Amino acid sequence: MSALFQPFTLKDVTLRNRIAIPPMCQYSAVDGVINDWHQVHYAGLARGGAGLVVVEATAVSPEGRITPGCAGIWSDAQAQAFVPVVQAIKAAGSVPGIQIAHAGRKASANRPWEGDDHIAADDARGWDTIAPSAVAFGANLPKVPKAMTLDDIARVRQDFVDAAKRAYEAGFEWLELHFAHGYLAQSFFSVHSNQRDDQYGGDLAGRSRFLLETLAEVRKVWPEHLPLTARFGVIEYDGRDEETLAESIELAQGFKREGLDLLSVSIGFSTPTANIPWGSGLLAPITEQVRKATGLKVASAWNIDTPVLANQVVADGQLDLVMVGRAHLADPHWPYYAAKALGVDQPSWVLPAPYAHWLERYRTS
Ligand SMILES: Cc1cc2nc3c(=O)[nH]c(=O)nc-3n(C[C@H](O)[C@H](O)[C@H](O)COP(=O)(O)O)c2cc1C
Repeated sequence: MSALFQPFTLKDVTLRNRIAIPPMCQYSAVDGVINDWHQVHYAGLARGGAGLVVVEATAVSPEGRITPGCAGIWSDAQAQAFVPVVQAIKAAGSVPGIQIAHAGRKASANRPWEGDDHIAADDARGWDTIAPSAVAFGANLPKVPKAMTLDDIARVRQDFVDAAKRAYEAGFEWLELHFAHGYLAQSFFSVHSNQRDDQYGGDLAGRSRFLLETLAEVRKVWPEHLPLTARFGVIEYDGRDEETLAESIELAQGFKREGLDLLSVSIGFSTPTANIPWGSGLLAPITEQVRKATGLKVASAWNIDTPVLANQVVADGQLDLVMVGRAHLADPHWPYYAAKALGVDQPSWVLPAPYAHWLERYRTS
């Protein structure tokens, strides 16, 4: 059996294979409440055979949404709307995960296909943003956020805790804290965005504090038997990568001490001037480095989209789980395609019987 199709157990959860669908915003919710689009989308992805489906960045508070169309989980009604999605993912044999998030200074933006920029100041659809310091991201996101007070920090930390409780009550079995991509948590860590001179800024301990405290508080309410994970950008590609990676590894060791079960290794996206060397599996060696230095289980994404490469990074011990995003938008049955490409015996077993039956038994080619 190929490495990619080996099951993976973390705490009391077993994934049927090493293929995970990373969170991918649909920007199609109304007032943070998901709808039929999300139901069909996630059910379809889960039926495709992935071991884990992580539902898109879901805001812990209204001002934490990236766009007005982002999903939210700051109310019980929003959480309840996820229940049928959770059930559909489970019914398809996959594990339902969710990423809870706060967009910080990147919030209040137009949908990607409607500009991907900050909503204009005179447009009532927008809102005031918050961040560690009053420093704008720049480029397409020029809005200057309000620097958070200590009360703001305590409130958002509690919003993550409340969101985690709601996610559990909705039936999710895998929680991912969005600490990546230049959003609020990542911007506490990054020197590009954090210029605070109190206990939440300055040295590595200060810039790590919000993330470690939030994780520790969430761990208290998220059941011990279920995986608690985070996505974090360990590198910015901004010319100071060695230092950032060393600091990130120290932070990841702190995550482990606070009870993190798996780290999804990603990019910081804290500055518009980064120079990212896009290419196949660019993060695989970096992810392996984090894995070796911390002993954490690790996942990663970004251009690991051929079956051979996905299998290789698992077989080589670089990644425990492979996040395959855009390839799943192109083909929700990507795991079936991968199983065939890797010569897995009876590849159609990854699909539900109403599909698999015709692909195996009555195969004509
Ligand atoms: C439509 C879309 C929405 C995304 N939304 C999120 C998100 O909600 N949270 C997140 O951490 N990453 C998000 N990402 C990044 C993906 O999780 C993933 O890292 C990225 O697509 C790279 O993986 P790939 O090369 O397999 O597509 C999104 C990507 C896409 C294409």
